Amino acid sequence: MAVTEERDPAANGPPETAKPWGGRFIDTTSPLVDAYTSSLAVDRRLALEDVRGSIAHARMLAHQGIISTADAEEILAGLLQIRGEIERDELVLNEALEDIHMNVESRLAQIVGTAAGRLHTARSRNDQVATDLRMWLKEAVVETIASLHDLQISLVETASEHRRVVMPGYTHLQRAQPVLLAHHLLAYFEMLERDIGRLTDAYIRMDVMPLGSGALAGVPYPVDREMVAGELEFSAVTANSIDAVSDRDFVLEYLASASISMMHVSRLAEEIVLWSTSEFGFVILPDEFATGSSIMPQKKNPDVAELARARTGKVYGALVSVLTTMKGLPLAYNRDMQEDKEPLFAAYDTLNSALTIMAEMVPRLTFRSQQSRRNAGGMLLATDVADYLTSKGMPFREAHNVVGRIVQYCEANRRELRQLTLEDYRRFSDLFDEEVLRINVWSSLRARDVPGGTAPRRVAQAIRRARTILRQHEDEA
Ligand code: ARG
Repeated sequence: MAVTEERDPAANGPPETAKPWGGRFIDTTSPLVDAYTSSLAVDRRLALEDVRGSIAHARMLAHQGIISTADAEEILAGLLQIRGEIERDELVLNEALEDIHMNVESRLAQIVGTAAGRLHTARSRNDQVATDLRMWLKEAVVETIASLHDLQISLVETASEHRRVVMPGYTHLQRAQPVLLAHHLLAYFEMLERDIGRLTDAYIRMDVMPLGSGALAGVPYPVDREMVAGELEFSAVTANSIDAVSDRDFVLEYLASASISMMHVSRLAEEIVLWSTSEFGFVILPDEFATGSSIMPQKKNPDVAELARARTGKVYGALVSVLTTMKGLPLAYNRDMQEDKEPLFAAYDTLNSALTIMAEMVPRLTFRSQQSRRNAGGMLLATDVADYLTSKGMPFREAHNVVGRIVQYCEANRRELRQLTLEDYRRFSDLFDEEVLRINVWSSLRARDVPGGTAPRRVAQAIRRARTILRQHEDEA
């Protein structure tokens, strides 16, 4: 226990190495506590956002007459110097100063002296960090959307290049009906398009500026929040100071959306893993995107797809981590909230690297169209035979039953549907005529001529539509 009674607070200035908040303390923080509470290793990533926010804040303070123009000029010159140091990776960080915000402020004090002490007027680290993080995340959302867009381009170009590749479509991972590979790939285009929609929507809500909220109650200075928001390119200012410093739902919306995107990437990755097996044999991995085995000379492994699949867990973990951190926190700011950044940054890095590498890999896959085509015929045309009977007037349920018995017959006699003669068919129903012998993979595909169906002309339309959407993204960017 430190003995405090004998010292006179009025006489005690903070020691040389004190923290900006050191005034009410007599003893210095334990190095254990410094290490335990520091967020510097993580939030140093916000350095440029922090300086940018401070520049806008200092300009506003001077504009409103809250600090003098002379002080503001010194502060701004110092901040610009710090920005240069960050860009050149020369800013020396001090672990004892908790976080990036205090590091920037203390570096400013080294450069400009006493004027630096006026920068934190009408501001708290609580509204500061909320602002910095929103700025960072807005940029990250733009980058994530660009990465999703790049994977969409890969999918559409690959679909377009392989317009006539047929493959079995699956349900329950059992061969179901023939589909075009292009149709299958465009399914992922649609998923990613919704991911972009979710992020675009989340962006609107994170594009609101907290500065001016102070620690939690607002600030007792005539600040111009709109001016700061304008300079920092926010569309609006937050409406409630307590909410502004205490919620991280904008982080959660990103993580929720990133989780869904990773789930989509993971399903694509899983299909690439499956398709590259000898059992499926639908694709050959490009050498540059595969790895070998240290013991089995024949192996060519889909490690990229496997790792993308695995890292989905990290992104879900980030979402659950921040949800759990926030749950049950009383208003307003709590130090717990410092723990939002590590999962957020990790999720962003994980998602972006997965999207980027998948966008590179997909166009380099070799599709073994003979192999996938071979697996798309046979019994997969059973639905078409039932639909054929239906077109002759038989109720579909009955047709289903008739064809079910034909399938049973084929299996018992080791025959394929295409080996049956008209006489064979007619033993099951006299509605069969010559036309049934013309059912094949292409007639099956062509028949699914509905909007959103796998008929070749619909898929060609879908590719055109996808390209129009991609052009719209580019116009909006
Ligand atoms: N490093 C802190 C965080 O990331 C900054 C805000 C600290 N505020 C405070 N009152 N301790 O949340």
